[in-house]
Amino acid sequence: MLLALDRVAAGYGETPVLFEVSFEIAAGEAVALVGRNGMGKSTTMRAILGLCPPTSGAVTFAGRPLAGLAPFRIARLGVGWVPEGRLIFPTLTVRENLTATAANHGGLARPWTVPEIFDLFPRLRERALASGDQLSGGEAQMLAIGRALMLGPQLILLDEATEGLAPVIRDEIWQCIGRLRERGQAVLIVDKHLVALARVAERAVVIEKGRTVWTGSTAVLAGDREIHDRYLSV
Ligand SMILES: Nc1ncnc2c1ncn2[C@@H]1O[C@H](COP(=O)(O)OP(=O)(O)O)[C@@H](O)[C@H]1O
Ligand SMILES: [Mg+2]
Repeated sequence: MLLALDRVAAGYGETPVLFEVSFEIAAGEAVALVGRNGMGKSTTMRAILGLCPPTSGAVTFAGRPLAGLAPFRIARLGVGWVPEGRLIFPTLTVRENLTATAANHGGLARPWTVPEIFDLFPRLRERALASGDQLSGGEAQMLAIGRALMLGPQLILLDEATEGLAPVIRDEIWQCIGRLRERGQAVLIVDKHLVALARVAERAVVIEKGRTVWTGSTAVLAGDREIHDRYLSV
């Protein structure tokens, strides 16, 4: 297994948020993490990254327990993150955003290059010299994903990948995630669009009030009214 969470509990200060989160991601696998708002999806990502260190349970990455490691150490093992809100450097150009922090943390045999990121998102190639603050929401999200890839992640965590984007831009992001999958990139993805998730991820994990309550095929989840109503409808 590339990533394994075993009964992870975590929270913010005195406030517990995760109680028992358990799931695994194999090398090259894409897994969707779904659940209603406030159930602990982003916190699960922060627990993996060491930003909300688990208070009990264990996170293991590439065979290595992550307990006690600082977030930058975990990142340097090859865990990439695209947080909600597409944080990019506003005063750097698109190309500079991609190269400023580039590294091969995950020790990839074939690390990503700027031309490959531009092949993934042709729109970014056209905008190579634009500064970060001139980009549309969709372009900024593409750049945020591209920059995370330039850090050589073995696993990339995508939080609310298409949140707040117009449908046509969302489709572009989904197509790109599909191409990432073809390249064998392991992904943990949080998003609300189940049908689109089912196209890029085979397996889904449902989280409710800080507990993983269901895991199975995304196709089943996208088509099963009862599971949907129980865990996802608002
Ligand atoms: N920085 C924080 N401090 C305290 N509580 C937080 C913080 N961030 C999130 N929470 C709480 O943790 C719970 C889970 O939040 P989150 O993981 O962001 O959920 P999701 O991503 O599934 O919408 C929510 O009740 C939220 O209010
Ligand atoms: Mg969230």
